[in-house]
Amino acid sequence: MVGGRVADRVFDITRAFPLALDVGSGRGYIAQHLTKETVEKLIQVDIAENALKNAMETEIATVSVVADEEFLPFKEDTFDLVVSSLSLHWVNDLPRAFREIHQVLKPDGVFIGAMFGGDTLYELRCSLQLAELEREGGFSPHVSPFTAVSDLGHLLSRAGFNTLTVDTDEIQVNYPGLFEVMEDLQGMGESNCSWNRKPLLHRETILAAAAIYQEMYGNSDGSVPATFQIYYMIGWKFHESQARPAQRGSATVSLGDLAKINGLLSRRKK
Ligand SMILES: C[S@@+](CC[C@H](N)C(=O)[O-])C[C@H]1O[C@@H](n2cnc3c(N)ncnc32)[C@H](O)[C@@H]1O
Repeated sequence: MVGGRVADRVFDITRAFPLALDVGSGRGYIAQHLTKETVEKLIQVDIAENALKNAMETEIATVSVVADEEFLPFKEDTFDLVVSSLSLHWVNDLPRAFREIHQVLKPDGVFIGAMFGGDTLYELRCSLQLAELEREGGFSPHVSPFTAVSDLGHLLSRAGFNTLTVDTDEIQVNYPGLFEVMEDLQGMGESNCSWNRKPLLHRETILAAAAIYQEMYGNSDGSVPATFQIYYMIGWKFHESQARPAQRGSATVSLGDLAKINGLLSRRKK
């Protein structure tokens, strides 16, 4: 679903991309939604060799490379397009990953990415924290930390991107209960990515968390919602052909005259 929405943003740009890179490609969900007319060749990078080995077939010519997105093994100014879907929240150093992506893009190349945002799984986070506090007298993070949308624009522009677009989307999925939420997250490979996480949750604490989840967030039909917040971002690498703001003071028309436009247009109609 998110991979498809990243691909939609690629199609919004009316040009073909001879060489593209998918960072944290997993089994290649973005490629499933792209066409060979838009992307001629796609390099898929993932840290998990197994994911790349099990990549789905696609009509685009692809090459897979096992690498960490914080250390991209490509020359500067290589790619016309870099895409990424739901992998950037796993990196240890997000500013560095953005700098790496910017570096491997060609001038006038574009980065289109999606990552989980700050409110993702807030129901699970809160239920586990309350239960752990109550049962064990303290809590440690059990849900990955996510970037705030207010920081994302700064991080992208500090990495060198310009003409930025960031928008957010919220997807709510209903589950029978907390256990099914956690099982599904494990299946998605989305268990907690914190380095200093506590590996074990006591059964009593989980049972208490399940009751709190149901009590605080439960739907009237007995199911519980899990919220996923997604940030979509687009950033361009500078090229002198790109549109730029005009020099200060170079305007030949005053904004104050805008109010007169209606009068001028209606006089012309008569
Ligand atoms: C939730 S999956 C998303 C996969 C795919 N992009 C999609 O849309 O389905 C996250 C992927 O990011 C990869 N990943 C996590 N940390 C990474 C890193 N530092 N460098 C490269 N890939 C990484 C994981 O191996 C996994 O395949």
